[in-house]
Amino acid sequence: MKIAVLPGDGIGPEIVAQAVKVLEALRGDGLKIELEYAHLGGAGYDAAGDPFPPATEKLALAADAVLLGAVGGYQYDNLPRPMRPEQGLLRIRKGLGLFANLRPALVYPELVNASSLKPELVSGLDIMILRELTGDIYFGQPRGIRTMDNGERQGFDTMLYSESEIRRVAHVGFQIALKRGKKLCSVDKANVLDTSMFWREIVIDVAKDYPVIELSHMYVDNAAMQLVRAPKQFDVILTGNIFGDILSDEASMLTGSIGMLPSASLDAHNKGLYEPCHGSAPDIAGKDIANPLATILSVAMMMRYTFAREDIAQRIEAAVRKVLQQGLRTGDIYEAGMQKVGCTAMGDAVVAAL
Ligand code: IPM
Ligand code: MG
Repeated sequence: MKIAVLPGDGIGPEIVAQAVKVLEALRGDGLKIELEYAHLGGAGYDAAGDPFPPATEKLALAADAVLLGAVGGYQYDNLPRPMRPEQGLLRIRKGLGLFANLRPALVYPELVNASSLKPELVSGLDIMILRELTGDIYFGQPRGIRTMDNGERQGFDTMLYSESEIRRVAHVGFQIALKRGKKLCSVDKANVLDTSMFWREIVIDVAKDYPVIELSHMYVDNAAMQLVRAPKQFDVILTGNIFGDILSDEASMLTGSIGMLPSASLDAHNKGLYEPCHGSAPDIAGKDIANPLATILSVAMMMRYTFAREDIAQRIEAAVRKVLQQGLRTGDIYEAGMQKVGCTAMGDAVVAAL
């Protein structure tokens, strides 16, 4: 298992260090794990003047899987756009062809009270959001800021999806639904956008290959509302890049904390980049208070999707459950009566439980 480790910025290095402890424990049990480090985001800019340095690209292309912390920080906010940390993230996703982004929103029974929604609305919640990750308005051309003939300036982007892009991610969505509750809800804005009308047409066509899946369609504004009204109606949500970005942040809060959510970004051959859904949280970086569980759970997803080791994935997930049952909580999921721990202590507890 050749894993490229990209700690990135902010809390990235601290949370990744905990996930690496988990990998090292597994290596102690006999797994052949090779870890190699490189810079991404602001760390790449600082080390090599590029948020996605060539050395990082080379390492990531050669690896079986990539483990990423997070990118971004205030000190980079005024750099020209190509140098910003987020560009490093977008370029590695695009460069590795990671078009299928899986963001599970799972409510652990121990954390139902940490959600901002009533416990009965979220208890038992298990949604998989599949976000297309290398197309849409994120990458569409042309884009820019221009001055019109009358002297007025305008900003513009292009929302765009090719048929092949929709087809391949739709297939991934139906395949995931087959292994779960056999329900797929495709989210779009087909009442307004041509891109979405086309998206819906292609998804309906792909559905012919999966007659056992119950396919539904929902406009994105309604989906945003339904996610907080009755989130348990969803099984798999399939959506484009920008809608998926927004809905996955919303769904994360159903689970109590975005600090609990892992993600997998896969190419057509199950090579993947694994990262927590949360960002680099520069305000709490270096304080040893960040929640490392989303990153550790991302390692579980890596074992499941890239290395086809469901057994190890479940072992890691069980270890996370165990520390929650023991009452250990980082600040983001803390409630009275529990034991507040820092990032390192949480990582150590997971390794012990493993
Ligand atoms: C995410 C993030 C990124 C995105 C940013 C940091 C570019 O919000 O992974 O959801 O918009 O995709
Ligand atoms: Mg986002």
